[in-house]
Amino acid sequence: MNFSNQLLNWYDQNKRELEWRKTTYPYSVWLSEVIMQQTQIIQGTPYYLKFIKTYPTIFDLARAEEREVLLLWQGLGYYSRGRNLLETAKYIVSNFNGVFPDNYKALITLSGIGDYTASAILSVCFNKAVPAIDGNVLRLISRFYEIKEPVNKASGRNTVKKICETLISDKRPGDFNQAMMDYSSVVCSPKKPDCIHCIFNNDCISFKNNHVECFPIKEKNPTKKSEYWFYFIIQDTKHRKLYIEKRNEGIWKNLYQFPVFISLKKISEIEALNKFVTTNNLPANFEVKSISDEYKHILSHKILYVKFFVLKSSFFANLNLSEQISFVSKNNLSDYPFPAVINKYINQGFTV
Ligand code: ADE
Repeated sequence: MNFSNQLLNWYDQNKRELEWRKTTYPYSVWLSEVIMQQTQIIQGTPYYLKFIKTYPTIFDLARAEEREVLLLWQGLGYYSRGRNLLETAKYIVSNFNGVFPDNYKALITLSGIGDYTASAILSVCFNKAVPAIDGNVLRLISRFYEIKEPVNKASGRNTVKKICETLISDKRPGDFNQAMMDYSSVVCSPKKPDCIHCIFNNDCISFKNNHVECFPIKEKNPTKKSEYWFYFIIQDTKHRKLYIEKRNEGIWKNLYQFPVFISLKKISEIEALNKFVTTNNLPANFEVKSISDEYKHILSHKILYVKFFVLKSSFFANLNLSEQISFVSKNNLSDYPFPAVINKYINQGFTV
């Protein structure tokens, strides 16, 4: 039996019952794939259900406000994916009457749809034989064939994709792709793969050579730079409200934040406070109520060391920190989407 038939036999007996496998509606499949790229199935499924409940169709999503979408996305990270979700829903509704394109060329031009997502949609929804290559599939194939190129580089990924093009089932491409994902998560897992029970152990080259642990080969990423972020939670003594602002750049664009001072080198708390006050031209009549412990927040490209200051002040009217500023009470902070590190601090319960 060939690879694809062996795999599909296994899948028919072992497939995971996942919410989005109950449908081939492209909107649902797209949503699930975008969410699941962010997280594990266990954590991602409640997000998927929440999105489908709030926006059952692409038309509902296209009508949503960005703040609402980012609030639902909150906690998944990579907020550009949440923003792209809305942009693409709007685009498909306005340009294609809400109907997903059924070809690679059109899908790949949509915001947030890359090779993996386009291939998953085409195979699952439109029965097209296009392999969907995620990290799990890269691992399985690199072990099976002892791929010596780093799979986190374009050439290694292309090699794997070419191999998968020869393996994929023409009759059941969507099931083949999803079977690859299940098999590589459950059997050909990153740590302690179950090679003894693996249905491919007669043909797997790295198993035969006792090299399974050496694959996949990955090129080391450059070391991450550190940044020091100081957030200032400023409570106005008269109105008892807090200042928050909409961030207008970077990966957290359009999420909310407390006013922040960012340093590229390590500085003391007093230096940070002074810099914040002078940069924003603030009067000195405030009281420092508390300074938090340091939160370490690891991003794909840098590490943030974050502290929160709570200040009380009567300079409400003078403050000129940002055009997009809002004044909110502490109890209403949950109406706004914040980056995870701010939510962590809020949820631990600070006092003003
Ligand atoms: N991870 C991302 N998408 C998936 C899918 N369709 N099936 C299993 N795991 C996945």
